[in-house]
Amino acid sequence: MKDLLRTIPRLLCIAFLVLLSLPVMAQQNDVPPADAPYKNASLPVEERVDDLLQRMTLAEKIGQMTQVEKNSIKLTDIDGLFIGSLLSGGGGYPSKNNAEAWAKMTDTFQEQALKTRLAIPLIYGADGVHGHNNLRGAVIFPHHIGMGATRNPELVQKACAVTAQEMAATGVFWDFGPVVAVPQDIRWGRTYEAYSENTDLVSELGAACVKGLQGDKLEVLATAKHYIGDGGTGWGTSTTDTYMLDQGVTQGDEANLRAKFLPPYKAAIDAGAMSVMVSFSSFGGMKMSAQKYLTTDVLKGELGFKGFVVSDWKAIDQISGDYYKDVVTSFNAGMDMNMVPYDYINFITTITKAVEAGDIPMERIDDAVRRILRVKLMMGLFEHPLSNQADLASVGSDEHRAVARQAVSESLVLLKNDNDVLPLKKDIPRIYVAGSAGNDIGIQSGGWTIEWQGSAGAITQGTTLFDAIKNMVGSSTEIKFDRFGRFRNDKDASGNLLRAEVGIVVVGEQPYAEGKGDAVDLSLTEADQNAIKNVRERVDKLIVIVISGRPMILGEALDQADAVVAAWLPGTEGEGVADNLFGDHPFTGKLPYTWPRSMDQLPFDFSKLPTEGDAAPLFPFGYGLITG
Ligand code: GLC
Repeated sequence: MKDLLRTIPRLLCIAFLVLLSLPVMAQQNDVPPADAPYKNASLPVEERVDDLLQRMTLAEKIGQMTQVEKNSIKLTDIDGLFIGSLLSGGGGYPSKNNAEAWAKMTDTFQEQALKTRLAIPLIYGADGVHGHNNLRGAVIFPHHIGMGATRNPELVQKACAVTAQEMAATGVFWDFGPVVAVPQDIRWGRTYEAYSENTDLVSELGAACVKGLQGDKLEVLATAKHYIGDGGTGWGTSTTDTYMLDQGVTQGDEANLRAKFLPPYKAAIDAGAMSVMVSFSSFGGMKMSAQKYLTTDVLKGELGFKGFVVSDWKAIDQISGDYYKDVVTSFNAGMDMNMVPYDYINFITTITKAVEAGDIPMERIDDAVRRILRVKLMMGLFEHPLSNQADLASVGSDEHRAVARQAVSESLVLLKNDNDVLPLKKDIPRIYVAGSAGNDIGIQSGGWTIEWQGSAGAITQGTTLFDAIKNMVGSSTEIKFDRFGRFRNDKDASGNLLRAEVGIVVVGEQPYAEGKGDAVDLSLTEADQNAIKNVRERVDKLIVIVISGRPMILGEALDQADAVVAAWLPGTEGEGVADNLFGDHPFTGKLPYTWPRSMDQLPFDFSKLPTEGDAAPLFPFGYGLITG
């Protein structure tokens, strides 16, 4: 009897809670009215967020926090599990890699998402780090290292605006860029993805790109990445088993972290960036994906970041290896969205368990979802969820290519120009072009082009340096290409080897991305060194052009050449190089990174960099010869 008396109040309690929750449950499971406030674009965003959030079930909230790689998603899970975001990783193009197929792909996913009760649009993301670079036919800009050499924020903004227009045309409304890393060791495979070793320059150009991508109406969501200190890791500290610097441990104390690596995030946020991607790297013995102080207290608190924080690719899993704990740690630290990107069922199951167990408070979930909804509503995604197909014609257009051509021209840094050999005349009788990178769109574009790692070859539309030079000279000029610089068949009537007035040898790096580019040696390849030697013997004037994602060790090439040009990774518009070689545009670029004389100078200690003698770098930050 006593037990019965004791259970009655408990039963009444449960009954009361059920009765209390009925209206909410009913509301949470019914289709909202057409005039629901969150659907009203004339209302303030925060009001719309409040209305929508209180209508959402836990499953709908967690779905918004889940980002899945597009080949891993089951179409009906998009609405079945309320998935809030999909992405293309590097090389994540549809089977037919053209703009129309991209638009069809993203619209198909979006239409599935809009079948949900609340019809919250998903947001599709991809890496547009130098154009809409997974898309064949898109304009490929110089990588950020070249944009850093332009010192031109207006041009950077314009380039990012063109990138945004080409991405939005295909329904990709989220660009995982700009990288606002401040690389301190150019042996890092991601050096080229960043603007410079200099914090102020990165801050200025990163902010410019954010403005270009997002425009006035947040057309395409920018992502400042990778938070924080990805460019400051120590050699050999990578937590992966193959990389050396990438995903390593950021060196120095918090004061150094704040001074060197935080300003670009403040600048990006002040410019309106509404997403930040957390780095794979670690600081203070802890993975960045687990850092509550830096993510919640500093980024969201001190810097007042009101957008959302997304993980990097499967990065949460690296925290400890115990997935439940990793999810709890990361989301309690301030992560808002998980780039899962594969096993989304496991993630959703795990985080649901963690919330139900009280290991992740509902307030934290609501804060994360509020941030994601805020961004989607600010972007107008609810009103315009589908691809901007009216802009499809702009993809790879002449107008867009002209912007990239200007960027290439302004990115070139003239390191040597003995006897003003540059600019060249356009009526030179004979020109030899040689070198591994002289006639290859893939090599001159570098990593993150069509494929994640990029690749040599005619991978997309564009103009190689050889074609650009050929297009620039008069019909009277004999111009030939031989990758190895031998020109064995170029002989006179008596069979003697001919000579040329000018030789242009284009040397450099094969494409790479991320830690696969971590390099122990940055010397020119033997094949390129031989090409230089071969051509040197056959020409009056020798110009060496370096196509690379970072400064390279020039060695004797510097003495052999009459002129040396750093062209970085110029992308598809090779004419921009010819414009400067033949004087249509002046050389104005300035080094965004200090150029080493030899590998044993790396990593530079910028606090005490020698300025004289062999201990000094070959060329200092900011160096660049100017032509008229
Ligand atoms: C990669 C990169 C990151 C990129 C993401 C999606 O691993 O670290 O920069 O945005 O995955 O491709």
